Amino acid sequence: MGFPLQRPRRLRQSETWRRLTRETQLSSDDLVYPLFIVPGARVRHPVESMPGVAQLSVDEAVHEARRVRESGVGAVILFSAPDHKDARASAFLDPNGLVPLAVRAIKASCPQLLVWTDVCLCSATDHGHCGHVLPDGTIDNDSSIETLAQVALNHARAGADAVAPSDMMDGRVLAIRQLLDRSGHANTPIVSYAAKYASSFYGPFREAADSAPAFGDRRSYQMDPANAREALKEVALDLEEGADLVMVKPAGPYLDVIRRVREAVTVPVVAYQVSGEFSLIKAASQRGWIDERAAALETLTAIKRAGADLIISYFAPDVRRWQHS
Ligand code: PBG
Repeated sequence: MGFPLQRPRRLRQSETWRRLTRETQLSSDDLVYPLFIVPGARVRHPVESMPGVAQLSVDEAVHEARRVRESGVGAVILFSAPDHKDARASAFLDPNGLVPLAVRAIKASCPQLLVWTDVCLCSATDHGHCGHVLPDGTIDNDSSIETLAQVALNHARAGADAVAPSDMMDGRVLAIRQLLDRSGHANTPIVSYAAKYASSFYGPFREAADSAPAFGDRRSYQMDPANAREALKEVALDLEEGADLVMVKPAGPYLDVIRRVREAVTVPVVAYQVSGEFSLIKAASQRGWIDERAAALETLTAIKRAGADLIISYFAPDVRRWQHS
């Protein structure tokens, strides 16, 4: 039953046929855009390693959020790089900290845009780790998850539409869920960075969020890139603890993991196309070595084809314009 009866090219012969038979649709509705909040006013400080991305003061983040909404993107996820850093990440417990201020300001000016917040400690700690560091240099899981829950509550009180823990401590989803429920925020969803790998592709982000670890690395809490079955275990545990959406991160190098998670769960699966994935395409396109629009759309489509329902991407605000050009 092969050639010459079968000619797969019949359905590829025109753009109209290709559109009609396309299996995977990429839509700006399913995209989430990261914003990096810094102190001050009227600040737009370009992130050198991420062309087109800037650290923004709260007022500028409000402008950016409106532009993002107009591009059809469904949600933003907020990160911040506070000036004050200490061992306990106390800047993140301040009800008038950068993220709570930005949540309130963006929701006031753009109520239809969902505002998620990243919940982690690394950009408010002087050591740059995602949890509390013990005197021997190890990361203390059980005290860290108490602080992470307090950070999540601080964001929920400011009106965050979802909290997204990215620290990879064990049990943090349960700790957050219990504290939110006890405090009148039972309706705030948790987007869990469930399968987050210890990846070399986070480099540019650490410039944007000022969150590089001062010593060591994150391999005692983030996952080993060699492991896929373990991702299913992490996802199952987070769902038992009350996660509403689960995430795989990075995205492009982990398409097999996205596919396996998609087949294992019924909740929405989020994939994070991280800073390094973005900067590789930007850098090559700036040298004329690759077509930015085509490469970005191809990677995003591949991430959806693998099974992601939502994608967090630094390309998000460009997608609709690119699709119509
Ligand atoms: C914080 C966090 C990181 C990213 C998202 N949340 C960095 C890290 O774990 O070191 C990376 C995002 C990106 O690279 O775009 N824990």
